[in-house]
Amino acid sequence: MARVVVPDRATRESVMKILVLTGAGISAESGLGTFRDKGGLWSRFDPMKLATPEAFAKDPEQVHAFYNFRRRNVLDAQPNPAHFALARLEAAMADRGDELTLVTQNIDDLHERAGTSRVTHMHGELLKARCAHCQAVSPWRQDLAVSDPCPGCIQQGHMRPHVVWFGEIPLAMDAIQSRLRSADLFVAIGTSGAVYPAAGFVAQAGALGIATCEINLEPSDNTELFDERRYGRASEVVPVWVEEVLAGRPDESTIPRGAKLRSQL
Ligand code: OAD
Repeated sequence: MARVVVPDRATRESVMKILVLTGAGISAESGLGTFRDKGGLWSRFDPMKLATPEAFAKDPEQVHAFYNFRRRNVLDAQPNPAHFALARLEAAMADRGDELTLVTQNIDDLHERAGTSRVTHMHGELLKARCAHCQAVSPWRQDLAVSDPCPGCIQQGHMRPHVVWFGEIPLAMDAIQSRLRSADLFVAIGTSGAVYPAAGFVAQAGALGIATCEINLEPSDNTELFDERRYGRASEVVPVWVEEVLAGRPDESTIPRGAKLRSQL
């Protein structure tokens, strides 16, 4: 299997860009449940009854109860070494003039609490609520109820969790696509590769000649599409990978596949 290598700054001239996509697996060791593992959220709850606009229209109390339970779990959870390692990577890359783009499917705030300064939440954020009447997005740490008025327009009965449900379009897709196209390396961490559009990023990256790496507990649905695969607990594998990236692994080839292809165009 090809090894994905990020060059040391001394061996190259241009800015190195890495796009990391995280999923529920990175927060599993912080005590937040994944969705599709044995005992995962979707084995205990029906997503069609809890995570769709139709479910919310039919039974908003039930949907609020589900997200209130998850919000309380998020507030009780703490970031783990994988979140901290990615924060270190962002800061160290910025110091070198390089760029890390961190895109997460997670609605928790553990990347931010670990110190990552720019996180793109493509499936929204549980600690925010949105008014379906005026579209204002407000910080929200307490339980949410149908009767809560919007802090912006004061209308009652329109507040919903600021999350993306099945059947809705993920957030910030144009910005994510643009960052993905210009990346030198795409890394997926702790995601099963079952939910699109995020599950399609690896194929897009591969078609553009961008190097790809998967870090997961076990092979994901898309595992064969990745150039490099590392299996194990995120809290153990991610910090090791981050240190290797920052060290530039000088013992191996110093040009990533993507950079090579692009320089030939
Ligand atoms: P999944 O539950 O589908 O996948 C989690 C992945 O993390 C699995 O492949 C696990 O093997 C892996 N995993 C579990 N523990 C791990 C650990 N300690 N270290 C590393 N990997 C670990 O979660 P996502 O792929 O994030 O969307 O799910 C994507 C979307 O589906 C979610 O954002 C959510 C869900 O339905 C919506 O609710 C719209």
